[in-house]
This record gives sequence, C-alpha cells and structure tokens, in this order.
Amino acid sequence: MDLIEKAVKKSERSSKASLIERAAKKLGTGPAPDDGVSEPESAEAVAAPPAPDVAEPAAPQPGPPPPAAGPAPTAPPAPDRHGPASRRVDIDLDRLFTSGMVTPRGERTRIAEEYRVIKRPLLLKAVAGSQEAVDKGNLIMVSSSIPGEGKTFTAVNLAMSMAKERDVYVLLVDADLSRPAVFPTLGIEADMGFSDLLEDASLDVADVLLRTNVENLSLIAAGRPHPMGTELLASERAGHVIGEIAHRYANRVIILDTAPVLASSEGGALSRFVGQVVFVVEAEKTNEAAVKGALDVLGSCKHIGLVLNKARTRLASGLYGGYYTAYYDESYYANRRR
Ligand SMILES: Nc1ncnc2c1ncn2[C@@H]1O[C@H](COP(=O)(O)OP(=O)(O)OP(=O)(O)O)[C@@H](O)[C@H]1O
Ligand SMILES: [Mg+2]
Repeated sequence: MDLIEKAVKKSERSSKASLIERAAKKLGTGPAPDDGVSEPESAEAVAAPPAPDVAEPAAPQPGPPPPAAGPAPTAPPAPDRHGPASRRVDIDLDRLFTSGMVTPRGERTRIAEEYRVIKRPLLLKAVAGSQEAVDKGNLIMVSSSIPGEGKTFTAVNLAMSMAKERDVYVLLVDADLSRPAVFPTLGIEADMGFSDLLEDASLDVADVLLRTNVENLSLIAAGRPHPMGTELLASERAGHVIGEIAHRYANRVIILDTAPVLASSEGGALSRFVGQVVFVVEAEKTNEAAVKGALDVLGSCKHIGLVLNKARTRLASGLYGGYYTAYYDESYYANRRR
C-alpha cells in the first residue's frame, strides 16, 4: 500500500469534521450561514462534511483588540502608501469558472466545496485571536515534490475560496520564478513583480502589488524572468521582503505559489519564512520516497498540511469520473514520520 492509499484510508477513519468543528467551537463562531455551496456531488468528493466557516465576525468584545499575530479578520486592509498600488487588474471570473476553478461568487460546484473544507484548518491557524493561531500562520506556502502536481491550481483556488469570506483579505504571490503560472491561470498580465522586488532594494512592496476586481484579493506577479531566480529566493533579502509583506499586510492571508521542492532549492529556502505549508501530492503519481524527501526539505516549517490532488472519483459504474481533492493536516504528517 503506498502513501496515498494510506492517506485515503486514514482519512476515511479519521474524524476530520470533528477536528474542524472542535476548532471552530473553540473560536466560538457557531454554525455559519449557508454560503450557497451545495452538497458535494459524490460522497468521495471531500474528506469531511461542511463545517462552520472560521471567519465569521465575532460578537463585539469589550477591552483592547488582541495583538496582531496574524490577519485581523474584521479590519480592512491598511491603505497602501504608494501610488502604483492603486493599479488594478480585472480577473475574468466567468472564464475562471468555465475552466473549473473556484470563484469568490459562491457557485455551487464540487471544487468550491472541496476548497471550502481545505481552507478551514488553514484559516484557523492564520487568524489572530484563534486558539489554533500559529506564528506567521498568515504566511502560507503552496508546495509539492515534483512539477505539475497542482500547486498553482491549489494556490489560486485557495486564494479565491478565502477571498469569498467576508472578513478575510488575501494576497496571492507568484513566488515560482522559474515557471510562473498564477497570472496566466487568472488570464491577466503584469510587467513587474516578486523578482523585481527581490532584486531592486529601491522598490517597495506597494510598487508591485495589484488590486483586483475581487474586493478581498490582491496579487503580486512573479515579475521579470531572472537568471538567478533561485538565488534571489534563497537570499537574505527574500526573508526581509517576505517579513515586510507579512508585517505590512498582517491583516491578510498571504499565499505563496512556489516551485517544486525536488526540482529546485527555492522551496526549501522559502519554507524558513512561512508559518504554514500546503503540500500538494498528486494521487497515483508521486511516489512515497519523493513525498518523504520533499517533506524533509520543508522540515523547517512546523505546520504542513497535505492536499491529495487529482484523485479520481469512482462512479457507481466502477469507472473513474472527475478529479477530487482532499486535505490532511500535520497530525497525519507527524504520524507518518514516526
Ligand atoms: N484537481 C485538479 N483538477 C483538474 N485539473 C487539475 C487539478 N489540479 C491540477 N490540474 C491541472 O493540472 C495541470 C498542472 O497543474 P498546476 O499548473 O497547478 O501544477 P503545478 O504543480 O503548479 O506545476 P509546476 O510545478 O509546473 O508549477 C494544470 O493544467 C492544472 O489545471
Ligand atoms: Mg505552478
């Protein structure tokens, strides 16, 4: 039995819903109103039934606000200081929907439901004031062992799903400098981005940040191709810039789409700077040795969740239908390492 099969078995046995529900209860959020997402098309579609959303506004509390250890879900993003930040790009949400991605409009699709489940434990760790909140939890890196497993797909869908929350602000950064794909996936273009920011110390984060027609979503493109992209990402300045982004935009969840760990050293370098890693595993493709090797490289981040991507749904006929995606939090990973 390989790692993926074990993961699926483990998921079937484990009570993911109760974990998330317990966490949500601790937050005191209670059941969330229906956000318009229907039941998944298949019982196999997700690892857990819908649980309360974590970003519902809490009842007003007396006393001073909690320290800003992560995104403050009720505060709007601070205004950017520089003019270029007012630049805005329009994402064609119809096109995104047609290509099978999540949009923040709350369409009733299975993929939307799957990402609704995936985002929940991530938000619990990211939201300041949550009992589950972790250090730098609002900095989330999307990674995988090898190319093509679905990192960009996951990063974009997660960003869209999170931006659908009323009080969560999202900054999606294309930090895969060798094969940037976030902007093409969104059907938009940008001249400058992350590589420019890393290379040119005179640039400010706000110079490359783009607002979008999705109210809660901002973007940073990969930027101009750079022959030393890997070195840039492993540099001290990268740590400084990411720290600056996290500090300046402490009220946002920052999602970094990155290069595959076993194909370049960028992933390992970046994992030092983030609070959470979403590790994508392509079902029936990536072998256990590759997964283990990559997870070891990412070991400097304590909070790693696995996303099983492109698993096939078995239909009643016995044939396989569309892909589905499921999430396993770090307790699964910790058990695997024993
Ligand atoms: N769950 C899914 N359902 C359908 N298509 C998917 C799914 N996940 C990924 N894909 C498709 O698989 C292809 C590879 O995905 P993606 O580009 O996200 O991988 P990646 O890990 O970012 O690759 P790279 O390592 O090159 O950056 C894309 O065409 C994407 O649309
Ligand atoms: Mg990619």
